[in-house]
Amino acid sequence: MVGGSVPVFDEIILSTSLMDQVLSFQDVSGALVCQAGCVLERLSQFVEERGFVMPLDLGAKGSCHIGGNVATHAGGLRFLRYGSLRGTVLGLEVVLADGTVLNCLTSLRKDNTGYDLKQLFIGSEGTLGVITAVSLLCPPKPQAVNVAFLGCPGFAEVLQTFRTCREMLGEILSAFEFMDAECMQLVGRHLHLACPVRESPFYVLVETSGSSAGHDAEKLTAFLEHTLGSGLLTDGTVATDERRIKMLWALRERITEALSRDGYVYKYDLSLPLERLYDLVSAVRARLGPGARHVVGYGHLGDGNLHLNVTADAFSTAVLDTLEPFVYEWTAGQRGSVSAEHGLGFKKKDMLGYSKPPEAQLLMRQLKVLLDPKGILNPYKVLPAHA
Ligand code: LAC
Ligand code: ZN
Repeated sequence: MVGGSVPVFDEIILSTSLMDQVLSFQDVSGALVCQAGCVLERLSQFVEERGFVMPLDLGAKGSCHIGGNVATHAGGLRFLRYGSLRGTVLGLEVVLADGTVLNCLTSLRKDNTGYDLKQLFIGSEGTLGVITAVSLLCPPKPQAVNVAFLGCPGFAEVLQTFRTCREMLGEILSAFEFMDAECMQLVGRHLHLACPVRESPFYVLVETSGSSAGHDAEKLTAFLEHTLGSGLLTDGTVATDERRIKMLWALRERITEALSRDGYVYKYDLSLPLERLYDLVSAVRARLGPGARHVVGYGHLGDGNLHLNVTADAFSTAVLDTLEPFVYEWTAGQRGSVSAEHGLGFKKKDMLGYSKPPEAQLLMRQLKVLLDPKGILNPYKVLPAHA
């Protein structure tokens, strides 16, 4: 997404794919300890066989490594329910730039012994050390999962549906994702996935995960009756069996793939106040006019995270100049973040100043010099070239 793992000049590529062993699993607490090269989906299968789930899930689960997930502080589809890796990661083993092995691989829930060093490496994108093993807390596997796919007549209704959802579904709400009509057109056109509800300006995917199927279904039904009855929704469908749940999730998870088949893609991953979240998509659409093929908005609405993507026939500096710095200035104007979950990598490193004040940038630079004085760990990434 941001070229964080893409070598650009003179880098040496380091692969952890052979470090793919689970080291331990505690079946009372759910603490999993594994090597960095374990593929997320394999870990999911491993813990699910033991009655637990991984606290994170994302479209790339079939190929991404847990070490990379932690190094990039991946957000994904379960963030709303289980929170950030900053909370679920219990410990790390990290190799520092001078070869020192930093063993902070504990499995404790509580450890208040001074600075929480593992946090430095979560989201550092490999610029401060190489994560070689991860200890993280897996929640119990929910007994009942339901997915509702809903159509909404406008963005105000999407927000109101979210509010109602939190009020009426409470603790069983586990995901609230949204996509606009153009996203649906693209997954239809490029991936041949059919829209399961009446065509609408917006679509919402609601997932519930709970411990009692009957109780959850009752709550979901009451929520749907209320939202359909009050005009918040145009249409809706519910899935309880695994095959249909997967099918509904695919509509949301595969948007990135559909976009990449549509042409050159300009990608933005922003944190914004919910009330203003879609205004930016509308503003960009108006600014670009026929200069773009598609301007789409989708993302993790429950986390305040918008994915704004623009597709065009080919890369053009004219389109880029229309988009930037406009998108970043608009976001900074809302005190948003110019990278909600994709990190800075190579492509967004010079945008750091839109989300962090000079004092914070200086401290980041000082930490980098302390831990990597020769600048050998994922060089040219995260920190701006000039500050
Ligand atoms: C997603 C990726 C783009 O949410 O973060 O689909
Ligand atoms: Zn995302």
